[in-house]
Order: sequence, then C-alpha cells, then structure tokens
Amino acid sequence: MDYKENIIPHDHQIKLKDRIQKYGFEPKLLWFTGLSGSGKSTLAGAFETWLFNEGYHTYILDGDNVRSGLNSDLDFSDVSRKENIRRIAEVAKLFLDSGVVVLTAFISPFKEDRQQARELVGVANFIEVFVDTPLEICEQRDVKGLYAKARAGKIPNFTGIDSPFEAPDTPDVHIETAGKTVEQSLNELINQIKTKLK
Ligand code: ADX
Repeated sequence: MDYKENIIPHDHQIKLKDRIQKYGFEPKLLWFTGLSGSGKSTLAGAFETWLFNEGYHTYILDGDNVRSGLNSDLDFSDVSRKENIRRIAEVAKLFLDSGVVVLTAFISPFKEDRQQARELVGVANFIEVFVDTPLEICEQRDVKGLYAKARAGKIPNFTGIDSPFEAPDTPDVHIETAGKTVEQSLNELINQIKTKLK
C-alpha cells in the first residue's frame, strides 16, 4: 500500500482569506532570477526594506538561509539545482499561505524549474523578476571571487561558464542593472512591480 494514502490533510480554521483581510495585502512570490553576482540578493534586500516600510509582511529566501540549512545536502549538478528550486518553491508556497510576501533570490537557471515553481504557487501569485546583468559585468565585479576560481577550473559546473543560464523570454519584471546604481535599479523595480501588488 502506498504510504501517501494515509496522509490526510487537516482543515485548519484560519484560512488565507482571513489573513488577507487582517493584514490588508495579498501575498505574492517575487522570484528573482539571474547570474551569480547579478545583484539578485542586493535588489531583493533593498526591495524588501521598501515593502516592509510600506507595511507588508515579508520574508527573503536566499542562498544564505536555504543552501546552508534546508538544502545543505545539495550540490550544483543539474539534478541538485532542480531539487533546490523545487524545495524553495514548496517553502515559498507555505509562506504564501501564511499571508507573507516572499522574495526568492536564487540563480534558478532552468526555465522548466521556474515554470514549475510558478505553477506550484499559482500563476497569479508568481512574479518573475529577471535581474539582467551581462556575464562580463558579473565577472568583472566577482564579489565572491568565484568567477576567477571557475575560470581556473577550480569550480566545475559554474553558471555562465560551464553550466547554462536560461534567461526568461518574457519576465514579469525586467531590470537591466548595467551602468545603474542599486538605487536606480530599485526605483525601476518599484515602478514596474507596484501595480502588481495589492
Ligand atoms: S541555483 O543554480 O541552484 O539556483 P543558488 O542560487 O542556490 O544556485 O546558489 C548560487 C550561489 O552559490 C552563487 O551565487 C555562488 O555564490 C555559489 N556557487 C557555488 N558553486 C556554484 C556553481 N557551480 N554555480 C553557480 N553558483 C555557485
């Protein structure tokens, strides 16, 4: 017998609609995608501060709090990256059900995985934010020194070097960061996304 047959969800009393009514906003998932060093975490962090000050309840999921804990068993093979994104999407779904605006900042290089995340949380709840910074610029910045290591052959499967990044064709929000300050990119993000939040 399949063990899943014996898992019967409990119908809790407080529903999402109750939370929305109480908090006064609708939860959304803002899914930042882009190369390592593109500015995803920086922009997501800056935007979270803005949202927080506007009165939204927010939470960021990014490498630091996910890959060092929940997903510490996953490496950077294609299969592990897929599982990384699957788990993140499942966690984000729980946060959304708690009424919170969730921001995720992962490379999430594969279109199919981002699409699955979109479908998992519901198409209307998912806002894909493409942090579009050319590889050359990420490599020049090389904040963590990882591109130099990857070029030297010390990090296999590095995104943009010997592992692909499948850029979104029609992102909901598209931020080109080249030649812009964080503040300029943030203002662009706020302008593009404001109308999508309630
Ligand atoms: S994802 O591809 O699975 O979505 P994720 O966003 O969680 O990646 O982690 C990316 C971060 O891990 C990078 O910003 C970088 O600091 C680090 N990293 C370590 N190894 C790799 C690698 N092979 N490719 C890309 N990033 C790596």
